[in-house]
Amino acid sequence: MTATEDVAAGLAVATFTDAMSRLVSGLAVVTTRQDNGTPCGLLVSSICSYSVNPPSVLVVVDHASRCHEPLRRSTEFGVHLLGIAQERTARTFASRGADKFADVAWEWDGSVPRLCPAPIYLRCTTTALFGHGDHTVLIGEVTRTEVEDAEPLVFYRRLLDWRLRGTGARRR
Ligand SMILES: Cc1cc2nc3c(=O)[nH]c(=O)nc-3n(C[C@H](O)[C@H](O)[C@H](O)COP(=O)(O)O)c2cc1C
Repeated sequence: MTATEDVAAGLAVATFTDAMSRLVSGLAVVTTRQDNGTPCGLLVSSICSYSVNPPSVLVVVDHASRCHEPLRRSTEFGVHLLGIAQERTARTFASRGADKFADVAWEWDGSVPRLCPAPIYLRCTTTALFGHGDHTVLIGEVTRTEVEDAEPLVFYRRLLDWRLRGTGARRR
């Protein structure tokens, strides 16, 4: 099926979200410390490399997220790129649960809550913030990187359970 819509004719949000659901994304949990000293975190697919010099990432956070204000106020945040073994963690951090950290191993890395099971961890210092519409773009300069081999958790067509190994993307 081919769906074509002209912006001038009034773009339907459903067509836009359907189009964007066909963009393959990795998934990350972004964490920070709140003013009261407790950790907070959310699942994001809006994450990418921003620059190599300096090494920086770009993350987009919805104003409606409870982490939005803590991320806007803090100077550091953590990015945890998830592997297929962290599907449950992904669902936990996509929720509005009262204590998302209760069932996951984590520790403080300075002011950053570091989730232990994530194969890729980036500690970031916030260097720029840009608000537009109902989201904020955060740019974070990477001050620490830890990498372990793992198959990535892949978000595609609104499903979390795609995998890349073999001849093509397929569901597990
Ligand atoms: C696959 C997926 C990707 C998501 N990507 C983002 C994102 O890029 N930015 C964002 O602000 N929220 C994103 N969300 C929504 C948040 O994870 C969700 O609203 C979460 O409950 C926010 O938690 P909080 O209110 O405790 O901060 C995504 C959710 C899912 C399921």
